[in-house]
Amino acid sequence: PEPGWTTRADVVVVGSGIAGLTAALRIHAADPGLRLLVVTKDVLAAGSTQWAQGGIAAALGPGDTPAQHERDTLVAGAGACDVEAVRVLVTEGPDAVRELIALGTQFDHHPDGELSLTREGGHHRDRIAHAGGDATGAEIQRALIAAVERAPAIEVVQHALAVDLLTAADGGVAGLTLHVLGEGQHDGVGAVLCRAVVLASGGLGQVFSQSTNPSVSTGDGTALAMRAGARVRDLEFVQFHPTVMWLGPDSQGQQPLISEAVRGEGAFLVDAPPEEGGTRFMLGQHELADLAPRDIVAKAITRRMLETGRPHVWLDARHLGAEFWERRFPTILRVCREHGVDPVTELIPVAPAQHYASGGVATDLWGRTSVPGLYATGEVACSGVHGANRLASNSLLEGLVFSRRIADVLPGELRAWAAPAVDDRATGLVSGERRRALQDVMTALVGVLRQADGLAEAIEVLGDLEHGDPVVGPPAWETTNLVTVSTALAMAAALRTETRGSHWREDFPDRDDTRAGHVDARLVDGTVR
Ligand code: SIN
Repeated sequence: PEPGWTTRADVVVVGSGIAGLTAALRIHAADPGLRLLVVTKDVLAAGSTQWAQGGIAAALGPGDTPAQHERDTLVAGAGACDVEAVRVLVTEGPDAVRELIALGTQFDHHPDGELSLTREGGHHRDRIAHAGGDATGAEIQRALIAAVERAPAIEVVQHALAVDLLTAADGGVAGLTLHVLGEGQHDGVGAVLCRAVVLASGGLGQVFSQSTNPSVSTGDGTALAMRAGARVRDLEFVQFHPTVMWLGPDSQGQQPLISEAVRGEGAFLVDAPPEEGGTRFMLGQHELADLAPRDIVAKAITRRMLETGRPHVWLDARHLGAEFWERRFPTILRVCREHGVDPVTELIPVAPAQHYASGGVATDLWGRTSVPGLYATGEVACSGVHGANRLASNSLLEGLVFSRRIADVLPGELRAWAAPAVDDRATGLVSGERRRALQDVMTALVGVLRQADGLAEAIEVLGDLEHGDPVVGPPAWETTNLVTVSTALAMAAALRTETRGSHWREDFPDRDDTRAGHVDARLVDGTVR
C-alpha cells in the first residue's frame, strides 16, 4: 500500500516480548544518541513472552555448569543444533538472567534467599528460574515494560502491524511500512525510513488450528523477511508441546498450556483413568520417563492416542495437593478450574498442540540475517540453538542472549541512510476469510505426523488459496503471511525425508544422518525455493 505518512528512526525494533524489549534497552544503552522506535502489533504485553509458564533455563544452580546445559540442549536438538550458537547461549545465559534480575525481575526464591530452580523435560539438572510460581513470562514482561517506560528516548508505537520491509538498491534495509491503528500522527499506513530493523516479532502458531501461541503469532516477521529476500532455515522443526489442555474437538486458537514444570514437580501421564486400568505409558520409553525431551513425550502421547482411539491422554497431578498447587502453579490451577477440571482431585485431559517454531529467519551468532541491516532475534529467528527440537525454557533465554549480542554490534555497523528502491514485488494478497481453511489443512497434513502425499496435497491447497478476493487490510496481510510461511514450512517438511526431533515422517520413520544438514528457503519471484 502507498504510505500516507513518513517518519525516520535510526533503528526500528519489531516486536515487544523479551527479545524486542531487550534489544531496544540494550541498543539504547550502547548508544543513547540513536533514534529508536519499537513497534508492536497489539499492546506491549500481548505477545508470547507473557504466556511463558515454566521459566528461563540457565546454569545458575550449585553443581550445574554451562557444559551440562549445552549437553542437554544438543541432545534435545537431535543432531541439528549449531554447536557454536548453543555454546554462546549457555555460557552467556547465566549473566543475562542475572541482568534481568538487576533490571527488576522478581524470580521465586527459597526461604534461605537462594534462587528457586526447577526441572523440565530433557534437563538433567534443576536450572529453570521461575516467577510467581507459573507466571514467569508475565513477570519478565512486566519488568521489561517498566524499564522501557523509564527510558523515554525509546519511542513505542502500539497497534502497529509491520507490513513490508523497504529495501535499497543494494538489497539492504532502507525502512519499513506500517499499518497503525489510532496512534495520532502515525495513523493508517505509513513508512519509517531507517538504517536497521531488528525483527523480534515472535512465532507462527496461528498456522495451526490449535496452538499455545496468542492470536498475534501469524508469522509476520518470517514472511516479511522472506519478501525482502532473507534466507529462512529449519522451518520444518515445529514443536508440539506434549501437555496442552484438551478442550474438545471444536476448540480453536490459543489453548491452555500445562507447563512441563508440573511434570518436573512429579505429575505423570496416564493413558486412561486408574479405574479403567490406565497405565503410566512413559515408563520404560526413556531414561527420563515423563521428563524425556518434549518431542519424545509428544510422539509417545500421539502413538498412544492412535492406539486407544481417544483424542487425548491424562495428566495425573492430584498427589501434589491443594496447598502446593495454589503456591506453585496458581495460574494453571485457575485456568483448569475455569475449564471445569480441578487438578487437585481430577485428572487433566491433555494432548499435544503447536507450541514453538524452532526454525525461522537464519542468523549468524550476532543476529545478522542475510539482508544487510536486518537482524532477527527470539522465536522469529533461527540462530541454530534449537536444532530439531527446542529444549524446555531455552526460548526466553535465546531472545535475551541474542538481543544482547545484536546490541553489541549493531551501533557500530549501522548502514548509511539509503533511499528505498521502487517496490515491484508481486503482492498476491490472500483474503482473511481463507485463514480457517489454511489452519485446517496445515493441522491435518503438516502437523505432528507427516508423509509425502499429504505434504504435496497441502502445498497444492495452499497455492490455490491465493485465488481469494482480498480486502486490503490487516486480516488479508496476516493471512498472506500465514500462506507464505505455511508453504515454506510444508516444502521444508517435504524435503526432509527422515524423522528427526519434532519432525516426524511416517514414510521415513528413522533418523538419517546423511540428511542432518539444514533445509534453507527463500522467496524467488514470489515462489518459495
Ligand atoms: C512449559 O512451561 O512447559 C513451556 C516451557 C517452554 O516452552 O520452554
